[in-house]
Amino acid sequence: MMPEAESSANQDRWQAVTVMTAFLKPYRRQISFALAALLFTATITLSIGQGVRLLIDQGFATSSAPLLTQYVLIFFGLVVALAVGTFTRYYWVTWLGERVVADIRDRVFKHLIELHPGFFDQNRSLEIQSRLTADTTLLQSVIGSSVSVALRNMIMMTGGIIWLFITNLKLSLIVLLSVPLVVTPILVFGRRVRGLSRRSQDRVADVGAYVGEVLGQIKTVQAYNHQDADKQRFAKHVENAFDIAKQRIVQRALLIAVVIILVLGAVGLMLWIGGMDVIEGNISGGELAAFVFYSVIVGSAVGSISEVIGELQRAAGAAERIVELLNAKSEILQPATPKNLPNNVTGHIRIDALSFSYPSRPDVKALNALSLEVKPGETLALVGPSGAGKSTLFDLLLRFFDGVEGRIYLEGIDIRNLDTRALRRCFALVSQSPALFYGPIADNLKYGCPGADDTAMLEAAKAAHIHDFIEQLPEGYATRLGDAGLGLSGGQKQRLAIARAILADAPILLLDEATSALDAESEYWVQKALEDLMQDRTTLVIAHRLATVKNADRIAVLNAGQLEAIGSHEALIAGNPLYARLASLQFRETDSASGDTAT
Ligand SMILES: Nc1ncnc2c1ncn2[C@@H]1O[C@H](COP(=O)(O)OP(=O)(O)OP(=O)(O)O)[C@@H](O)[C@H]1O
Ligand SMILES: [Mg+2]
Repeated sequence: MMPEAESSANQDRWQAVTVMTAFLKPYRRQISFALAALLFTATITLSIGQGVRLLIDQGFATSSAPLLTQYVLIFFGLVVALAVGTFTRYYWVTWLGERVVADIRDRVFKHLIELHPGFFDQNRSLEIQSRLTADTTLLQSVIGSSVSVALRNMIMMTGGIIWLFITNLKLSLIVLLSVPLVVTPILVFGRRVRGLSRRSQDRVADVGAYVGEVLGQIKTVQAYNHQDADKQRFAKHVENAFDIAKQRIVQRALLIAVVIILVLGAVGLMLWIGGMDVIEGNISGGELAAFVFYSVIVGSAVGSISEVIGELQRAAGAAERIVELLNAKSEILQPATPKNLPNNVTGHIRIDALSFSYPSRPDVKALNALSLEVKPGETLALVGPSGAGKSTLFDLLLRFFDGVEGRIYLEGIDIRNLDTRALRRCFALVSQSPALFYGPIADNLKYGCPGADDTAMLEAAKAAHIHDFIEQLPEGYATRLGDAGLGLSGGQKQRLAIARAILADAPILLLDEATSALDAESEYWVQKALEDLMQDRTTLVIAHRLATVKNADRIAVLNAGQLEAIGSHEALIAGNPLYARLASLQFRETDSASGDTAT
């Protein structure tokens, strides 16, 4: 996804702006509130200058107490109006930032969760996470403040310049000439500060990524006594971040100093020139005060705008990255007119010359012209060496990927012609690494059918031999699991995953080494439960253990993405050397294992 040329980069930027504007569209009303408040406060701030002029010229100069009181009252009135206006502006502008970013996050997540799984093989999910959080936070600060700062200061600058000229033409011309003198150094330092603060942010992100990775694998880190190396590496990351920050601080401090000298110096100069005019009676004291007031306003407005421009540029980058995510298309296309599955799916699957390569490794065929028919109600075992393509076949059945060549038919319908939701509803999957989620056990069990009642849930848990364990937990079925089922043993996780599949009650069961982490006894019981379950539904079971395999109606031997042989245990022992070898190794293992349990 590299930008191909300058023009396409510009296009990206333009598109990002269009998409972000679309996010603002629903909030026209709020935007108009914010704009109105913005104009109102800017006008008031500008008119304060006139208040100052009146205060000095009419109040002080005429030495009239009632007039002074009157002007001070007007001043207070302006202050209150300013406060109210600022409240409104701040509220609506910040509200808009938060609201729009909430919408963006929501849209991006809704989009991501429907994308084909292959997308996440190619994009690190950590990076996607950072886009969803860091980039949107940046946008939030821009929409919720920078844009308004830019607008407000633009109004102030324009209004301020107009008032400058109205107040005093000669002084205004002097100011106008000295503007580049003040602004140029500010721009130069400002650019340096911005570049450094971006780099400094990147370094901080490195620190975060490093912490995430190391702490996520803390047991491996400590088991290999890798802490010292990690401490050193982490310290390096932290120091890098600090070094960049130091450079930024220097530039920033210089910037502030330069601004003070230039701006206040210019004010002093103006006071001198203007003061001479006051002494000579060319202008009044109030006029001079108002003039200084306006030039400070114009100066600070220019400063703020130049600072905010960098923010806006960074936000455009963030918006581009978000739009890139939103533009990612799912490679699993939904049919325009999906075909309907029969009401009761029997589980008849026909795989026809199916070939597949993972996008990240296009030269290796994970499945190579595989043909296979699974009869309704049958239990088919898939065996074969590691990397043979067994799990990949499941992925294709669920249409996480589309085959490069060949077809899969469910009930005689090409699965590409089925609505993917309808297709996936036909399967209950227990995957190789049981996937559990943060939250109560009950929610995890009801994952496949949230509407299930508690009795059905208990039955499923009992069938998977996990009920007794759950009952023992302090809060039973309401016990919350950590991220990814943290706090459970491998076998417990597997049994929960099996219970979930049982509860889902789909016509076809896909078991990917579902019992590999169970001890002999639980495996026996879970096997029994699965047998009941397999009885009236089609089951594909991937297993390395012969005990599981032997109970299957037929066994398919996969090797290097191809179907080597298919048949009964006996026939394969006699006719397929690979199976015979796998079986003999297994038998020896199970023999010694059962010998162990007997003694
Ligand atoms: N996401 C992926 N990206 C690239 N290649 C992959 C991916 N997943 C699997 N593969 C490759 O595809 C081939 C088949 O893998 P698969 O997971 O289907 O094997 P398996 O038969 O299930 O093996 P095991 O018994 O070890 O689980 C392997 O060579 C593997 O390295
Ligand atoms: Mg596998």
